[in-house]
Amino acid sequence: MTNQPAGRRPDELFETGADRAGYVQEMFGDISARYDLMNTLMTVGRHHAWRRMAARALVRPGDRVIDVGCGTGDLTFACLDAGAGDVLGLDFARPMLARAREKATHRGASGAAFALGDATQLPLADASVDGWCSAFVVRNIPDLDAALAEAWRVLRPGGRLAVLEIPRLSPSPLRPLARVHFNRVVPLLGGLVSGHGSAYRYLPVSVDHFLAPPEFTQRLRSHGFRVREVRQLMFGTVALHVADKPVAHG
Ligand SMILES: C[S@@+](CC[C@H](N)C(=O)[O-])C[C@H]1O[C@@H](n2cnc3c(N)ncnc32)[C@H](O)[C@@H]1O
Repeated sequence: MTNQPAGRRPDELFETGADRAGYVQEMFGDISARYDLMNTLMTVGRHHAWRRMAARALVRPGDRVIDVGCGTGDLTFACLDAGAGDVLGLDFARPMLARAREKATHRGASGAAFALGDATQLPLADASVDGWCSAFVVRNIPDLDAALAEAWRVLRPGGRLAVLEIPRLSPSPLRPLARVHFNRVVPLLGGLVSGHGSAYRYLPVSVDHFLAPPEFTQRLRSHGFRVREVRQLMFGTVALHVADKPVAHG
């Protein structure tokens, strides 16, 4: 693999000119078979409840939704369960999409469609969806502003956005514990379970380079979104932002 040659540190992926998106795309392709199991182990099974919460905050009956960076499809399915009419799951890692399609067939999720694509260039017309969502994705997108501009473009006025993410950890009495979890436990488990230690060493580094919840709120506002709700979950190690694209006045 050329994106992170042996011996390079995950920090180097955040240096100017590094192909972080290429690394992320290849890495999720490599870990797709064990991705769901690792999520369950890392979150002690809580991850499904967070996606359900995001989906309920986002979806109105019959909505057309896009799930960006859908991975193996769990947020797509949560949106359908919450009443969406149809959900397009989009991801740039083919093996993750293959898993999502298998799961959709198994579940009989006829409202789900999956497509290969990039968060920064959505294959949708302007103002064509009611909801835009992502879970554990935006931290991995080097050009976050391009992805948020695309979310704004494809959402209809009055449409909603929900983002689940692991934010940069704020100082708190529990932060040392969270750091041990992300910096020690997760890479160890990831190496054992997925056989891809580098993926799970990248995770805590990507968290350190991401935004804290108030900063992400500001970023959403800078794109015009009205932030409705920010929920901090699992002792602040996961954040849910819910926002809408206001209907223009005047
Ligand atoms: C941590 S996984 C999250 C998967 C899923 N949303 C979930 O809740 O389990 C991140 C996913 O985002 C995808 N991804 C990251 N950057 C992307 C981009 N720029 N465009 C499309 N997909 C992207 C990865 O391929 C990966 O499948």
